[in-house]
Amino acid sequence: MARLILFSDTAQDIAAGFPGAVAAEVKKFPDGELYIRIPESCKGKDVLLLHRCYPEQNENLMKLFILLDAIHSQSPSSLKVFIPYLPYARMDKAVKEGEAISADTVCKLMKQLGCGEFITVDCHFIKEGAGLFERAGLKIRNLTASDALLTHIHKSSPSALAISPDQGAAYMAKGGEAIRKVRGEYGEMAGATYRKVAEMKVEFETKGKDLVIIDDMISTGSTMIKAVKVLKEAGAKRLSCATTHGLFLSGALDKLKEAGAAEIIATDSIPSPVSKVRVAGLLIEAKAV
Ligand code: R5P
Repeated sequence: MARLILFSDTAQDIAAGFPGAVAAEVKKFPDGELYIRIPESCKGKDVLLLHRCYPEQNENLMKLFILLDAIHSQSPSSLKVFIPYLPYARMDKAVKEGEAISADTVCKLMKQLGCGEFITVDCHFIKEGAGLFERAGLKIRNLTASDALLTHIHKSSPSALAISPDQGAAYMAKGGEAIRKVRGEYGEMAGATYRKVAEMKVEFETKGKDLVIIDDMISTGSTMIKAVKVLKEAGAKRLSCATTHGLFLSGALDKLKEAGAAEIIATDSIPSPVSKVRVAGLLIEAKAV
């Protein structure tokens, strides 16, 4: 069966790992609306679309939906999409009555627009590591960066024990301990809605140990910064931080260093100065394509 790998303007670096990948034409009309064209026929082909939805997630989701619709309408034999970081994945349950579960909205739209399999990395609402899952009817192949991140940290800190800052990311620490994290009420942070970290309890031995705190994402850094602080207070010797998705908002990277993190690394699901693990490598390794 003929195969076609397409990529959007957000995923040129990922596509570099796939010889022969074809760029979708993405332009803007004068009013800011998107113009999209698929330059090669998808009819009867196994199509893989490489795309990023962050930053500018609202625009890049719209781009995704138009791309999917354009590809699907050409009747490919199959259609898979690789998006390493899925925006809105954190809004996966309603805490207050009437809240939109936007993780479902995104999944439903992808499914309806013809996505046969969505491939992603450490998707926030999965919390189980690599495997096949389903959400709102969308088939999801979740990859994990935890092994690659830990391997990288162990080059500079060979005896570092992996721990997670909460139960949700416990699978990334590969059986390591998890801090007990309690979220607080919704508050405001830099004009945005945010649920603060109310409390963190370290209920395991840390004195004199080298630790690597691993999490699926660092957004504002509140979780990771607090984890670094409580582990330092609890006597840890060297602390490294590893994450799959490094958004590093509100100066989180500098704040983490100030808090005492000796090393901070992430994947390039969101390119940053500390991207040390390539998501294209994970996709190739997983033979998901
Ligand atoms: C929470 O469940 C996640 O795994 C992350 O710990 C969290 O989303 C990170 O957000 P922030 O950096 O804003 O604390």
